Amino acid sequence: PARSADEDRAPGSLADIAARLDGCRRCDLWRGATQGVPGEGPAQARLMFVGEQPGDQEDLSGKPFVGPAGKLFDRALAEAGIDRSDVYVTNAVKHFKYELRGKRRLHKTPDAGEVQACRWWLDHERRLARPRVIVALGGTAARAVLGKAVAVTKVRGRPLALEDGAEGLVTVHPSYLLRLPDETAKAAAYKAFVEDLRTAGRLAR
Ligand code: URA
Repeated sequence: PARSADEDRAPGSLADIAARLDGCRRCDLWRGATQGVPGEGPAQARLMFVGEQPGDQEDLSGKPFVGPAGKLFDRALAEAGIDRSDVYVTNAVKHFKYELRGKRRLHKTPDAGEVQACRWWLDHERRLARPRVIVALGGTAARAVLGKAVAVTKVRGRPLALEDGAEGLVTVHPSYLLRLPDETAKAAAYKAFVEDLRTAGRLAR
């Protein structure tokens, strides 16, 4: 069906966004997902974290970063001296994209068109929450936050001026840390991740 004018009405609050995500038809990912997953956290948060998209558990619970990647993220935040309840956590894409393998739903990376379609929501979240610092977790989030593709390894960890006046910071995605096979490499990458979060926390003060 054609999109209605109401769908293009600018959200008036973060709660308005949360209420409208299930009805979003800006791309086709809603078809396979249980629900849209809105951002979570105080509307006045100085720090905003942007992930890629909900995973299996986030799709089922309707909350961002509650699965394995979320557990790792929580631990790293705590180590960096950041209280998760003080920050706003959202995703570049609000519906879970996956591939069925038997009964398992395997994460599939959203494509550039899906990221672009969902930027409408992210940009309204940024406008409404006005965070001082926006941290992009991984390449998909970096593309959504910066509006262009960047190499995470090249830009990570240093502040980038964003057009809306916020500071941007790109770091790796926690799922990337979970996937590293070598324990030594994993420990080093985790440490660097915590360091990036610490930088973000400092920038937000
Ligand atoms: N990975 C993400 O990027 N976001 C989530 O909410 C969960 C896992």
